[in-house]
Amino acid sequence: MKVLVTGGTGFIGSHTLVELIEAGHDVVVVDNLVNSSAESLNRVAQITGTEPVFYEGDIRDQNLLLDIFGKEAPEAVIHFAGLKAVGESSSKPLEYYDNNIAGTITLLKAMKESGCKNIIFSSSATVYGKPESVPIREDFKVGEVTNPYGRTKLMIEQILQDIYAADNSWNVILLRYFNPIGAHKSGLMGEDPQGIPNNLLPYIAKVAVGQLDHINVFGNDYDTKDGTGVRDYIHVVDLAYGHVKALEKISEAPGLKIYNLGTGNGYSVLEMIRAFSKACGRDLPYVIADRRPGDIDVCYADPALAKKELGWEAKRGIEEMCEDAWRWQSNNPTGYR
Ligand code: NAD
Ligand code: WQD
Repeated sequence: MKVLVTGGTGFIGSHTLVELIEAGHDVVVVDNLVNSSAESLNRVAQITGTEPVFYEGDIRDQNLLLDIFGKEAPEAVIHFAGLKAVGESSSKPLEYYDNNIAGTITLLKAMKESGCKNIIFSSSATVYGKPESVPIREDFKVGEVTNPYGRTKLMIEQILQDIYAADNSWNVILLRYFNPIGAHKSGLMGEDPQGIPNNLLPYIAKVAVGQLDHINVFGNDYDTKDGTGVRDYIHVVDLAYGHVKALEKISEAPGLKIYNLGTGNGYSVLEMIRAFSKACGRDLPYVIADRRPGDIDVCYADPALAKKELGWEAKRGIEEMCEDAWRWQSNNPTGYR
């Protein structure tokens, strides 16, 4: 299938390109490089032998999108493009709503005008807010989100549901990712955050490579096995492959579907620090710091629906996630730049 991948030079997008190409799909990428580097596409080409077709530009640019749909005629869109820093979204809400919501609306209008009505959207476990229980199923309540970033995900889910309700010829798959980490096995591709990372694993990786001094553990008084926050970390290559399976599903015209992409296992911050210490061969220093506002104690998926309906499940454990992330970080201490 020919697929337009928005945000395809980013962390999850670039790994998904590899899996799509290896599964025999044709990919076209649009990305404005606001949080990524086009070098990731050279790495995709190095791994797969195929250079993705790339349009550098913004998904809010309707003329660019109509041009891409006219020239490329993709049959489906995988929509990764968006800003994703939770903290920044609280200080720059307008930028997040404009980029994520207006960007998605512009994309959807161009899709409608071009007759492409198949979309897979990168949603997030953040839409569940603080869950009443774990593991989290897709039919759990959504909506009590504490930050503008999360609200953009929720709003886009609602927009897509409304579009489907009005016109059943659309096929919409909402994928709710848990905590993607790790890197491609080759060591050629991985996560490349700018500045000080917001998320735990890239932060640990920067401590491991000597660019940051120690890890701050945000709270050790949560109601969890060791008091630190518990999350469902998923290898980015497993997550990427989930999109290949979602694309197969979309070709069956499934209507509207929602799937969690997680492993079903929860690990604490201290367990992740230990796993990464093992991968890099030294004990990484950490200090216990205050809780981070908005954090919840435990979050992990029930991934049974994706297994049943997509035939997908995560295969890689935290050891492999940390080894692969370490290979990428140590081979590329300054990322793609
Ligand atoms: P990323 O920042 O690496 O990738 C996003 C890409 O979108 C970047 O390459 C960026 O340059 C591009 N982009 C942003 N705004 C754009 C615009 N207006 N026009 C064109 N391109 C634009 O992030 P990622 O981790 O790969 O995340 C991909 C998607 O998955 C995002 O939508 C994110 O919200 C979602 N998601 C990520 C996580 C996570 O923890 N990484 C978890 C759940 C959901
Ligand atoms: C994981 C755990 C922290 C950093 C975020 C978004 C979510 C999704 C995934 C996009 C928590 C602790 C963290 C640090 C720490 N993204 N931590 N020290 O918060 O589960 O999810 O990324 O959709 O929407 O909210 O991920 O990696 O930031 O935190 O102790 O320096 O690590 O408190 O328990 P989170 P994270």
